[in-house]
Amino acid sequence: MTTPQRLESGIPAQVSRTAAERFGIIERPDLTFTPAIARETEHLYERVKQFIPAFEWPVYAPYVHAINRIKKERGAVILAHNYQTPDIFHCVADIVGDSLQLARDATKVDSEIIIQCGVHFMAETSKLLNPDKTVLIPDGKAGCSLSESITGADVRLLKERYPGVPVVTYVNTSADVKAETDICCTSSNVLAVVESLESDTVLCIPDEYLAMNVAKQTKKKILTWKGHCEVHERFTAAELLAYKEADPSIEIIGHPECHPDVIAVCDFAGSTSGMINYVKDKRPARVLLVTECSMASNIQAEVTGVDFIKPCNLCPHMKRITLPKILDSLLFMTEEVLVDPAIAGRARLAVERMVNLKQ
Ligand code: 13P
Ligand code: SF4
Repeated sequence: MTTPQRLESGIPAQVSRTAAERFGIIERPDLTFTPAIARETEHLYERVKQFIPAFEWPVYAPYVHAINRIKKERGAVILAHNYQTPDIFHCVADIVGDSLQLARDATKVDSEIIIQCGVHFMAETSKLLNPDKTVLIPDGKAGCSLSESITGADVRLLKERYPGVPVVTYVNTSADVKAETDICCTSSNVLAVVESLESDTVLCIPDEYLAMNVAKQTKKKILTWKGHCEVHERFTAAELLAYKEADPSIEIIGHPECHPDVIAVCDFAGSTSGMINYVKDKRPARVLLVTECSMASNIQAEVTGVDFIKPCNLCPHMKRITLPKILDSLLFMTEEVLVDPAIAGRARLAVERMVNLKQ
C-alpha cells in the first residue's frame, strides 16, 4: 500500500477526492417493515416506546435497522449530542454526550468515518481533532444562533480593542472564530478555563449569558459579546417562578446559556450532561428542565419515578438531523465536513488546549 501523499498543511492529499469516491456508495436498501425487522428492532423499540406510538414504529424501524447494519459494514461511528431525538439517541448512536464529552470522545474513536449527529460546529470540532478521518454531518445546514453571531473578523477587532486580553471562545463557534482564540470552552468547563488563565481580565465570547453566569463565579473581569442561544434565551424567570408557585416541590434545573435571572431561580445549572447526571443521581420527584426538550425525553426513557416537566423549546438546527438523512450520509458519504487548512492548525490548538485542560 502506498503512503498517502501529504499537502503542506498536513491534510492528506486524498481528501481532495470526495468521501463518496474514497469509500464508494451503497445502494438504497429496501425500507419495508418486515417481520424480521420487527423482531430485530424490538429491543430498541422498548427504549423509545414512551415517545413513538406503536403504529409509527414501522416507519422508524426500517431506518434504524438499515443504519445499524450499514454503520457496521462501513466501520463508521455515530456521535450524537444530548439534544438529538430519542430515535437517534437511543436507537442508532454509538456515543452520546454534551459538547465537551463529544469533543473528548472524538479524539478516541478508531473508526475511519465519524457521523456527527448534532450541529455543524460539533462536526467541525470532530474534524479539527481528527484531521485524517472522514467526518460527515447528515445535514450541513444544521447551524447554531451562537455560532452565527460572530466571525473571525469580529474577534480580530476585539483583540485590537483589548490588546493582551486572552480570548476564551465557546465551542459553539466556527473554526474561523476558534482560529483567533487562545482556548475554547464548553458550558461544563467554562469556569475552569477562565480560572486557568493568568490574566485578571478575560474575553469570554460569544455567549453573553454564559459569560454573565461565569462572571458571578469568578473574581476576574469578564468581557463578552452579544450572542445568544435562540432556544435558551426564550425562558424567563417569571414563567419558572409560576411553576414553582403552583408546586413548590418542583426542582428546576437549567442550562447556563439562559439569562442569569433564569439561572437565579434554578436549583441547579450545568451542561446538558451535568443536568442528566443531576436527575439520575438525585432522582427528584418532579423536575423542570430549562433546556431543549428532546433531552428531557432522552433522560425520561432511562429513569423511573421522576415526573418531568418539559417546556417544549426545540432547537430547529438540531432537529434538522433525522434518521433518513443519517441513512443517506452512510449510503452516499455526505455531507463531508472539511476545514480550511489555512485556519485548521490554529483552531485545533484552541480546542486541544481545552480538551487537555486538567479539571
Ligand atoms: P452542552 O455543551 O451543554 O451540551 O451544550 C451545547 C449546546 O448547544 C446547548 O445549547
Ligand atoms: Fe445553538 Fe442553542 Fe441550538 Fe445549542 S440549542 S445548538 S446553542 S441554537
